[in-house]
Amino acid sequence: MTTTVRAALLPSVGAQLELTEITLPDPGPGQVRVKLAAAGVCHSDLSLATGVLRAATPVVLGHEGAGTVVAVGEGVTKVAVGDPVVLNWAPACGHCHLCGLGEPWLCENSYAASVETYASRTSDGTGVYPGLGVAAFAEETVVSENAVIPVPQGVPLDAAALLGCAVLTGYGAVHNAARVREGESAVVLGLGGVGLAVLQGLRIAGAGPIVAVDVTPEKEELARRHGATEFVVADENTAKAVRKLTGGHGTDHAFECVGRSTTIRAAWNSTRRGGRTTVVGIGSKDDQVAFNALEIFHFARTLTACVYGDGVPDRDIPLLAEHVRAGRLDLDSLITDRITLDEIPAAFDRMREGKGGRSLITF
Ligand code: APR
Ligand code: ZN
Repeated sequence: MTTTVRAALLPSVGAQLELTEITLPDPGPGQVRVKLAAAGVCHSDLSLATGVLRAATPVVLGHEGAGTVVAVGEGVTKVAVGDPVVLNWAPACGHCHLCGLGEPWLCENSYAASVETYASRTSDGTGVYPGLGVAAFAEETVVSENAVIPVPQGVPLDAAALLGCAVLTGYGAVHNAARVREGESAVVLGLGGVGLAVLQGLRIAGAGPIVAVDVTPEKEELARRHGATEFVVADENTAKAVRKLTGGHGTDHAFECVGRSTTIRAAWNSTRRGGRTTVVGIGSKDDQVAFNALEIFHFARTLTACVYGDGVPDRDIPLLAEHVRAGRLDLDSLITDRITLDEIPAAFDRMREGKGGRSLITF
């Protein structure tokens, strides 16, 4: 038995998305089939589509989704048909070296699902790869039960999609990776879905001042709604402006949510002596960041990156849901554009122009 669904297929790197039908197999042992309710469009999807990040093609992108379990394979115990779930794009294997060290977000096998075809193009039977193992830009998908997390009651399924990437990444960067404490100052560079989620994480942590930075001045209103207390338009003097807002010292923390060498440098330069920069953005291997040997010693700062918010999705999603239910985490404000499956190219264009927060596809 198979199921035919509509999907936004990327035929090859750099090509246009094609709205087409794909054929999904029934879930195999340990797998589940999920009917998508919503999927967010993340900058990583754009980077995969343009070749900044590598993906096997043809591929169905989309890695930030939520939906309902419609079929389960043999031996599935984690969820049942009818359960609302969030999709996890980096399910940990639980037995590799890094899982053993207690850092499952760095699991050596978390991308295993993305390197094998999971479906076929209905018209000609060509094998199709699932983007980051999830393939949320389709009406339905088939994933391992390790890649679904039950959504607790009280969180609307459409907004819950954002928990699967932007929110877990942004909130986790603040709470798991940087471990920001109440009263610490922070700067956030890049205010897309991920940067805005970092701002909300900082607000929940009680940080302050919270400086938001973006090249687009129109992001100020959005940034303040998500917790920013100050706003700086990015230019070559960003770090100077941020230091001025923190008594000349610089911030305790910086979060880089763009993925560029210039913003990584600006983030690092914005922190105080001994401050910490957490790189959340994913950049290109051709973009070098330079530091001189003296400044590394003199400033005694930390530069680190975090993957998927250094989180454990099965532990953190319920925690985030609790913040949503209590009104501390506002998912609705993150969604600035509600779109259909055929409108992903326009969402990519908004990203290129630095417009809006998250675009959310609803099915
Ligand atoms: N300085 C400051 N902000 C910038 C700069 C810059 N030089 N260049 C771009 N920006 C801003 C854009 O204006 C936009 O508001 O960065 C933001 C990026 O937002 P999105 O494109 O929506 O990206 P998002 O999905 O939030 O992802 C951010 O995290 O997961 C990674 O791959 C992802 O690297 C990407 C980053
Ligand atoms: Zn993402």
